Amino acid sequence: MVHNCYADTEAAVVGFVTEYLTGHALAAKLVGWFFICAAFYGLFKATMAVIGHMRGLLRMLVPGANVKKLGEWAVVTGATDGIGKGYAFELARQGMNIVLISRTQSKLDAVKSELLAKYPNVQATTVAVDFSNFDEAKQNDVKKAVDNLDIGVLVNNVGMSYSRPHMYLEASLELTNRLIEVNLNSMTRMTYIVLPGMVSRRRGSIVNVSSGAGSLPQPLQAVYGGCKNFVNSFSESLDLEYRSKGVRVSSQAPMFVVSNLSKIRRSSFFVPSATAFARAAVAKIGTGETYVLPYWTHRLQFCLYSLVPRWILQKGALNMHLSIRKRAIRKEERIAAAANADKTN
Ligand SMILES: NC(=O)c1ccc[n+]([C@@H]2O[C@H](COP(=O)([O-])OP(=O)(O)OC[C@H]3O[C@@H](n4cnc5c(N)ncnc54)[C@H](OP(=O)(O)O)[C@@H]3O)[C@@H](O)[C@H]2O)c1
Repeated sequence: MVHNCYADTEAAVVGFVTEYLTGHALAAKLVGWFFICAAFYGLFKATMAVIGHMRGLLRMLVPGANVKKLGEWAVVTGATDGIGKGYAFELARQGMNIVLISRTQSKLDAVKSELLAKYPNVQATTVAVDFSNFDEAKQNDVKKAVDNLDIGVLVNNVGMSYSRPHMYLEASLELTNRLIEVNLNSMTRMTYIVLPGMVSRRRGSIVNVSSGAGSLPQPLQAVYGGCKNFVNSFSESLDLEYRSKGVRVSSQAPMFVVSNLSKIRRSSFFVPSATAFARAAVAKIGTGETYVLPYWTHRLQFCLYSLVPRWILQKGALNMHLSIRKRAIRKEERIAAAANADKTN
């Protein structure tokens, strides 16, 4: 009955429109032109997107700078694991000395020993900093460690995300502040410390590690996505300000990479290891691009995303994150129930 009612309405509307258009030649022409223009506009947009990405894919062939010519030292934040460790080892492989900065001194010591054993011709120093509390005293520690060094490359890599997707109000203000401190203020403050030396030497490159999340909709990860979007905008603006002074700034955006943060343990076509990602990323330092997707399958993935209308991406991201959140909450509840049961036994 309900179905018939809709079918009748639909038939009536179609009948009315057809009759109206047959009786009104001008209206029919306008509708026709509207659809022709829409089709051309769609084709134009798709062509421009493909040309843009072809340009991007071709730029992958442009070789980066010889990083050693930028200076003797590289500074890498978040250097004891994942992508940061990858950057540190790759820059050392290219002959640069490395300042390793991270939270945990014991991990810094272990990574420093590993790096020097692998690349005995380079030097390495460490500074332990918790970027969630990068206060003046800690900033001075970093200043002292880097002040007399010829720093050619700064990689602002340190970052953190949520343990699982959260609605904005579900995450504590403390967590929100920590996300902003680690993902964003670490970068602006480290840049204050290192950029003046680069400007005075008139050479250097600052790489800010962003994320695909900075350009794609991030419901339930709003602060992380927002921070990464800031990283992109900050890097582009700074590059325009300082390129005439010999310093280039870029944001390098990974999609998924094997690491503790992504919780992905095995590499695949679209998910490189941190080492493979870092090798591609260092090769892209100094190409002149201000926003770089260094790993080729990430660029391909991004190209495909950009052909999808934004509203579909928004809906897809929302549904995916809601479903991950639901499963994670169930797991948390199971763990809490098991812990309670243990206590009562
Ligand atoms: N992995 C991905 O799929 C992916 C995708 C897009 C973007 N990214 C971005 O890539 C960057 C690196 O991510 P990752 O996956 O390599 O992360 P990771 O494996 O979790 O490594 C994070 C590194 O940062 C350090 N760190 C974390 N919190 C810190 C803090 N408060 N103070 C100082 N150091 C801290 C860690 O040191 P400790 O071990 O001492 O904690 C570790 O060395 C981040 O900016 C992230 O947003 C990653």
